[in-house]
Amino acid sequence: MSDSVLVTDDDAVRVIRMNRPEKKNALTQPMYAAMTRALDEAGETAAIRCIVFAGAPGAFSAGSDIADFLKAAEGGLKPITIDFLKALSRNRKPLVAAVNGLAVGIGTTMLLHCDFVVAATAATFSTPFTRLGLIPEAASSLLAPLRMGHARAFALLVMGRPLTAEEAKAAGIVNAVVEASAVDETAMAAAREIAALPPGAVTLARQLLRGNAGDVAERIDTEAMHFKERLQSDEARAAFTAFLARKK
Ligand code: COA
Repeated sequence: MSDSVLVTDDDAVRVIRMNRPEKKNALTQPMYAAMTRALDEAGETAAIRCIVFAGAPGAFSAGSDIADFLKAAEGGLKPITIDFLKALSRNRKPLVAAVNGLAVGIGTTMLLHCDFVVAATAATFSTPFTRLGLIPEAASSLLAPLRMGHARAFALLVMGRPLTAEEAKAAGIVNAVVEASAVDETAMAAAREIAALPPGAVTLARQLLRGNAGDVAERIDTEAMHFKERLQSDEARAAFTAFLARKK
């Protein structure tokens, strides 16, 4: 298991913690692979009844690693991110997220697959896909308009306008906004509460609430097809190169 993803089981709660703070938890291919394994393994383990995604203080995740995007554009990477998105959408255990800081790109769109999200007061949510010459992923083009309506989904996913924690709560992405120091514990308390419920009833109720899983899987594939093309576009390559060459 890669050190940049820490997986621990706290009784019936599995915690998947992204742990690459020096890069604001930008997600590399080994990190996606580790998270996919942790999700699938939790799905097969009856004793685990809830899964928590957490990050580092200040950074839930800065999204996919842009150096990996550039490698993928050059044809050097396998679609490991898609495996993660599929694992996320097919997973049947409730998902809780503890967002303490920035959530960019997939750091925000993965939350649309979570069932209970806790955010720090200073957390921000943004999806700069089009600025990078890309399009939304993780079935967010389907799930975000359903969740928050077209107008807010457009501002977030197409215009790349960030949401504050309170705005994300009003948009239906976040359940609770708390002080940064209370984020992990509030998320763990929610996870323990869920884990204490009868698991058969929780699984079925969750499945009914989430609607058609086939539609979500199909949208992940459709987006992935376009995303792959966009990765190779001049717009995207120029944006990746500019980010990697930027002076701070
Ligand atoms: N891919 C690769 N590296 C990333 C990254 C990403 N998505 N996000 C952050 N990093 C790296 C930075 O390059 C920097 O590395 P360095 O210290 O070696 O120069 C380090 O993480 C810290 O980031 P920094 O930009 O100094 O922190 P910040 O607090 O000023 O800004 C962000 C944080 C997330 C706003 C900014 O890094 C950013 O815009 N990142 C890109 C986010 C993105 O577009 N993700 C893809 C979405 S589809």
